[in-house]
Amino acid sequence: MKTAVIGASGYAGEELVRLLLSHPQVDLTAVTSRQFAGQTVAQIFPRFFHHQKAQTLKFSDFNPKQLAAMAEIVFLALPHGLAAEFTQPLWEAGVRVIDLSADFRLRDPHIYKEFYGQAHPAPDLLGQAVYGLPEIYRKKICAAQLVACPGCYPTSILLPLLPLVRKKIIDLRRIIVTSLSGVTGAGRKVETDYLFAECNESMRPYGVPKHRHLSEIEQELSIAANEPVVMQFTPHLVPLNRGIISTISLDLASNPDIGLIFNHAYANEPFVRLLGEERLPDTKDVVGTNFIDLGWKVDQRTNRLIVMSAIDNLTKGTSGQAVQCFNLMSGFDETAGLL
Ligand SMILES: NC(=O)c1ccc[n+]([C@@H]2O[C@H](COP(=O)([O-])OP(=O)(O)OC[C@H]3O[C@@H](n4cnc5c(N)ncnc54)[C@H](OP(=O)(O)O)[C@@H]3O)[C@@H](O)[C@H]2O)c1
Repeated sequence: MKTAVIGASGYAGEELVRLLLSHPQVDLTAVTSRQFAGQTVAQIFPRFFHHQKAQTLKFSDFNPKQLAAMAEIVFLALPHGLAAEFTQPLWEAGVRVIDLSADFRLRDPHIYKEFYGQAHPAPDLLGQAVYGLPEIYRKKICAAQLVACPGCYPTSILLPLLPLVRKKIIDLRRIIVTSLSGVTGAGRKVETDYLFAECNESMRPYGVPKHRHLSEIEQELSIAANEPVVMQFTPHLVPLNRGIISTISLDLASNPDIGLIFNHAYANEPFVRLLGEERLPDTKDVVGTNFIDLGWKVDQRTNRLIVMSAIDNLTKGTSGQAVQCFNLMSGFDETAGLL
């Protein structure tokens, strides 16, 4: 499958390049970057030097029209706003697009404006996009021309929450989530907040109380609940390169078998590992993989259910999940290039 990555020099793009270079059914035909145009992938990312392709494939700053002639499926790893502008000509050329940005995750352009502070650049395409969470939307992803991969926090929060919301066993007005993320989640940009000396040996909450990812999390929870859901979310930046832990505190509305619910939802899912009540998730077990590890405990003293997840923000949280969607769209084994 001829494939291109637009925005291949960023953290998400680099992770896509890593996965696609090793993918048995992929011919990576183009990778774009303005700053590295003309240089080979191996020059910029020496860790890929052992791939023949990395020694010959050069970064380019091709426009979407040129890319449409070079690839059947294009990954977009660009900042939001820009991604929609790139998508429009690709869509019109009939190319299938997997977008990693927030541009096509929301169904309502007004919510996009509320959370992203700008009018949606291509509102007509919103209705065409499929939310790229394979465990929930597998069938639709297979047939989609445009897939909007979920954000990293939303992946770590929705997979634990959706089966519980569907079964109506929790109080929907009292969902409280605390997440911890490594610094690559902010992208490879030069900003004082993300310099080594500002992040190392330090932790801080941010985006309180209305982080942008709440918009898509609440959208998907509301669809599952069939009623509007609003929740409390406090993300934190922690001194790690990669990894997210989400801890979800819930009031139980009944006394169900939680293990049975998760097993029913995920026992056959290749990338969801259920740890049960005996083990707690740890980012070191998932970094560099496309797995999400889920653990849970019922606190008998407070009658609360605590569900905890761990993912790699750059793999299951972004680029690995995008390749999982790519496999579905292409009719390949869903795990190809990911295990
Ligand atoms: N990082 C994560 O953990 C994560 C998780 C989930 C989703 N995402 C989403 O994935 C997307 C990429 O994130 P990232 O973390 O990889 O960001 P990043 O490290 O900042 O990379 C951004 C990429 O976009 C390219 N780019 C920026 N402005 C451009 C322009 N005007 N024209 C063409 N190319 C441009 C950059 O290439 P040049 O500057 O070299 O041209 C670079 O390759 C974002 O939408 C982000 O929200 C990221």
